[in-house]
Amino acid sequence: MAESPAVFLVILRWLHVVAAALWLGGGLLLLALRARGQGPGVPSVSWGRTAGHTLRLGVAVFIVTGALLTAVRLAEPNVPVGYVVVLVGKIALAFAMFWLALPRSRRGPAPPAEGWSRWTRDRTFWIVVIALVVYLLSVILNEIIERAALAIG
Ligand code: HEM
Repeated sequence: MAESPAVFLVILRWLHVVAAALWLGGGLLLLALRARGQGPGVPSVSWGRTAGHTLRLGVAVFIVTGALLTAVRLAEPNVPVGYVVVLVGKIALAFAMFWLALPRSRRGPAPPAEGWSRWTRDRTFWIVVIALVVYLLSVILNEIIERAALAIG
């Protein structure tokens, strides 16, 4: 059936984009809760387990759907070099972000911080910043490939 690859691609993109929205939304929610002093300061065991499972699931969805989308895109004829360069940058940033999100054991409560350093010391803040950049690079990727397709006609 000619439509099957298109349906498969749409499902892949949907899973990938939903994971991206939840990842960014979850990060922002966590930051907002911390700002109100309601976040998990020292996480409980059950919070840690749930967050760990959710993170692992999110990373697995990104890697599987991202790898398949990459394979589909790179199999297209005349993929611009710029596309590959931006994609490599995006993947490197995504893996840096996954590394930052790895659960780590805490060495006691963090020292109190005021103002800007309150945010810059928080790993979640950097995860959200990187996620925003990865999002932007993804939109740029889409723009590059669409322009290339239009140019071929
Ligand atoms: C292993 C990591 C990842 C790989 C290999 C990957 C790969 C890709 C590829 C190849 C596309 C298709 C781009 C196109 O239209 O040509 C894409 C789309 C997209 N990716 Fe990723 N991605 C990864 C992780 C992420 C992460 C962590 C985020 C966000 C936090 C993200 C957000 C998006 C979004 C929003 C799109 C849709 C862009 C659009 O259609 O406008 N990706 N990704």
